[in-house]
Amino acid sequence: MLKRPANQPFLARNIFTDFKRHDLGANFYERNYDGTTQKKFLTTALWGVGTTAPYGHDGRSINLREVILRHGGEAQEARAAFAALSPGDQFKVLEFLNSLVIFPPDDTASNLDPGNRQAAGFPQFGHGSVKLTALFNNPSDIE
Ligand code: HEM
Repeated sequence: MLKRPANQPFLARNIFTDFKRHDLGANFYERNYDGTTQKKFLTTALWGVGTTAPYGHDGRSINLREVILRHGGEAQEARAAFAALSPGDQFKVLEFLNSLVIFPPDDTASNLDPGNRQAAGFPQFGHGSVKLTALFNNPSDIE
């Protein structure tokens, strides 16, 4: 049985994107097959960004600092503001971004099915246990 969409409005929190395309300057430009230059890219949703290195549509930035400093064009001001921060404040921004992790288990799962759906914190259950069935399309599963 498939889970049917409820067709109701819902609120997404902390997705961290404006859903728009922006020109971030030459460091992001991409040559298209027809010889034209792709200059605008969709602002990537930053939820989960703590675990999705490498960064940029092309994956050319090895870490968060690199991809922020690569911003230019429309984001030049934001880039400059970040670059002007003290090392401690830059660290705070990076730590915040690193905290954006979707579905963070406390540690590596060692038991994929702890079994108790009613447990507090479900689908995470204690240490090292993640009930992965919650991620699949089982209509009887609590989410
Ligand atoms: C201090 C402020 C900002 C921070 C910390 C930040 C952070 C980031 C990060 C970490 C990424 C990489 C995401 C990924 O690859 O998964 C990214 C990409 C992007 N950002 Fe920003 N950003 C900032 C400001 C801006 C501004 C002001 C704009 C637009 C005017 C912008 C537009 C974009 C776009 C279009 C991408 C996608 C680039 C691509 O796909 O190659 N950002 N940003």
